[in-house]
Amino acid sequence: MAHTNASISLLMGAAIALNFLPTQAQARGEINIYSARKEALIAPVLEAYSNKYHVQVNLITGNADTLLHRLKTEGNASPADIFITVDAGRLHRAKQEGVLRQLESDTIVENIPAHLRDSEDYWVSLSRRSRVIFYNPKTVNKNELSTYEDLANPKWRGRICTRSSANIYNQSLVASMIAANGEEATGKWINNFVANLARPPFGGDTDLLRAVEAGVCDITLANTYYYGRLGHSDDPAMKAVYDHVALFWPNQAAGERGAHVNVSGIGITNSATNVRNARRLIEFLVNHESQAWYAEANNEYPVIEGVAYPSTLEPFGKFKADSLQLDKLGENNRLATELMDANGWK
Ligand SMILES: [Fe+2]
Repeated sequence: MAHTNASISLLMGAAIALNFLPTQAQARGEINIYSARKEALIAPVLEAYSNKYHVQVNLITGNADTLLHRLKTEGNASPADIFITVDAGRLHRAKQEGVLRQLESDTIVENIPAHLRDSEDYWVSLSRRSRVIFYNPKTVNKNELSTYEDLANPKWRGRICTRSSANIYNQSLVASMIAANGEEATGKWINNFVANLARPPFGGDTDLLRAVEAGVCDITLANTYYYGRLGHSDDPAMKAVYDHVALFWPNQAAGERGAHVNVSGIGITNSATNVRNARRLIEFLVNHESQAWYAEANNEYPVIEGVAYPSTLEPFGKFKADSLQLDKLGENNRLATELMDANGWK
C-alpha cells in the first residue's frame, strides 16, 4: 500500500487485514476506522482531515453487526482505533460489549447536546435522523394524524405497513415509547398497532414508502433520509413515491415530546493505539464544516447548532425532536424486543 503522509486509503474485503500489521500502523500514527457507513458517505470528510493533519486514515467499511462482532473477537489486538455505526441502540451495544473507551474530549462535551452523547462518554452522535409517519394524502386527511400512540387507534385498522421487529430502527422507536409511556402502555400499544397492519411486517423503509404509494397501505413509519433522498432521485418511479407520499411529524403539539430521533455515531475503540489522533478526528467530524458536508451527503440532520439542514430535508421544515437521552434506546432495547415478541410484532 502506498502511503503519503496525507492520504486516506479505502480498504475493502478480506485483503484488508494485511494492511493492518500493527507495528507499521502504530509507527506512522495512522488511524484505522471500522465503519458501517458506505464509503462515499464518509470518505471525503476523512480525506479532508487527513490532508489537514497529515495523518493517514484507513477505512474499512462493512455491515454494522459484522464489524462489531469483529471488534469483539479481535479484542485488544484489533487494529481499529475508531468505530462508526448507525443507531443509538447499536452504539450502546458496542459500549456494553466493551469495545469502546471514553472519549474524554472537552470539545465534544461543549458542542454536542448531552442527549446526543452517551451519558458515560463512550460515543457521540455524528448525525440525526427522525423516524416519522408517512401517509397517502389521497386516503388520509392530515388532520387525522397526530402521534405515534394514535397509530394504535382502531380507525387505522388494516391501513398500516411496517418493517419487522428484527429491525433496530423499530426496536429503538419502541424503546423511546417505553421511556415516554412505560412498559405496560407500550405493550398495549404494540398489540393494537399490530392489529392495524394491512399485512405482516415486510421490507425496508424504501419498500414501505413504495407500498404506501402503491396503495398496499395508507400509513407507514420510515427514517427521514430514505424519503428525503427520493426527492432527488433520477428514477421516475422513486420520484413518484416522493411526490405521492407525504411526511407527517408526530407528537408535535404543546406538551408532546416531539418526533423520535436516532443517530449515526462514533466511538474510540478500547484497542486504539492512536487515541489522541482518534479524538482529534472525532472533534473534526463535529466541527461546522464537516457537519455541513456530512449532513448533506447522508441526507441527515446535523448534531450541532447553526448548520443548515441538507437540501433534501429542507422542504420538511423545522420540527420538535424528542430530547430523550439516547442511551435510553440501548438500555430499553431488550425490553422493547421482548414486548414486540410478546405482542405479535413479527
Ligand atoms: Fe437505514
